[in-house]
Amino acid sequence: MNTYAPQRLLVTGGAGFIGANFVHHWLAHHPDSRVVVLDALTYAGNRASLAAAEARPEFCFIHGDISDTAGVERLLREENIDTIVHFAAESHVDRSIAGPDAFIETNVLGTHSLLKAARAVWLQEGAVRPHRFHHVSTDEVYGSLGRDDPPFSETTPYAPNSPYAASKAASDHLVRAYHHTYGLATTISNCSNNYGPYQFPEKLIPLCLINLLDDKPLPIYGDGLNVRDWLHVEDHCRGIELILEGGQPGQTYNIGGGAERTNLEVVHALCAIMDERYPANAPHTQRIEFVRDRPGHDLRYAIDETKLRRELGYAPGRHFEDGLRETVEWYLAQEDWWRPILSGEYRDWVGQHYGAA
Ligand code: NAD
Ligand code: DAU
Repeated sequence: MNTYAPQRLLVTGGAGFIGANFVHHWLAHHPDSRVVVLDALTYAGNRASLAAAEARPEFCFIHGDISDTAGVERLLREENIDTIVHFAAESHVDRSIAGPDAFIETNVLGTHSLLKAARAVWLQEGAVRPHRFHHVSTDEVYGSLGRDDPPFSETTPYAPNSPYAASKAASDHLVRAYHHTYGLATTISNCSNNYGPYQFPEKLIPLCLINLLDDKPLPIYGDGLNVRDWLHVEDHCRGIELILEGGQPGQTYNIGGGAERTNLEVVHALCAIMDERYPANAPHTQRIEFVRDRPGHDLRYAIDETKLRRELGYAPGRHFEDGLRETVEWYLAQEDWWRPILSGEYRDWVGQHYGAA
């Protein structure tokens, strides 16, 4: 096993869902590390998600764009960064269908800008420095599985179906090429659907949870039988940590949750938790509404994470139903975090997309 000890991290997209969870995870387990977040604060970025980190001297927030190559180069030099953990992206499939341009700009061109900056500072300015560039990607690059197909492994051919997935696939290829051609010490992880605290409420679980709390319908696309492999965000963060510390440069690792569920099963599990919490409103399943399907909707994703388990000792730590219960409790306790999001841009998007704000 390779060993590497990240000391000074640049976390792109650290004000987003997974990035913020990663920052908290990393600082909790590596209190002596320097952690610099670079985030453009798009609609999905929220500094409130980093409130617990902001008070720490090891932490620093920079409001900026990964596409600003010169600015990133300066940051890498001034902060003496040795490790980039790259989360920044446009991440929502429905938005990529409604307007793909931002996905190409951020996910493809933005990632390329970051790679150029890393190459310039780590490889071209004097002696090559020990470094890592970890790129956070998705299982959607592999396309869609049939109900009985074996899960995606690292050797599954790429077949992205949505503009989002295609933009992530392109960024994966650029990262791979920068390793192969220039010797940048890159690693890539492709993971399944995350859930947990701080998730923006456009994604299935927080959207449905908040709609239940606000007496709104639960919009289920198509027949609700599409399958996703649910990964608690804390398990994802542990997987990334293992790859940073023990992963082989040039390699890709899949991270999964071992929890395949249909969308209907997920929403039923959520409703069952809410029935216990709010029996007067039971059954919450009465709020389910089947709506027009997502164009090109992938049927099933599932991850084979044997490589990460075998090589780096990964195992997901949470059972889905336990993680879901904890997540519900988090959102119930953190209304101050999510309530302000429901106005403005979010209301416009939900209004246009679902016909009801
Ligand atoms: P998110 O949408 O919650 O957060 C994205 C963050 O990136 C936001 O804080 C946003 O402000 C920032 N950002 C966007 N464009 C930027 C730019 N040009 N410069 C700097 N910052 C910018 O996303 P997420 O769900 O936390 O996903 C993080 C990463 O993980 C993404 O790369 C996504 O493709 C990948 N991923 C997500 C999931 C999931 O289930 N959420 C699963 C697999 C992979
Ligand atoms: O698989 C990893 C991917 O998971 C990540 O790369 C993406 O960034 C992330 O957004 C997520 O993509 P999905 O499209 O799978 O997640 P979403 O929460 O949007 O949808 C989950 C499933 O639920 C999907 O089959 C579509 C369905 N859905 C979603 C919404 C928002 C509904 O039925 N109704 C909804 O309102």
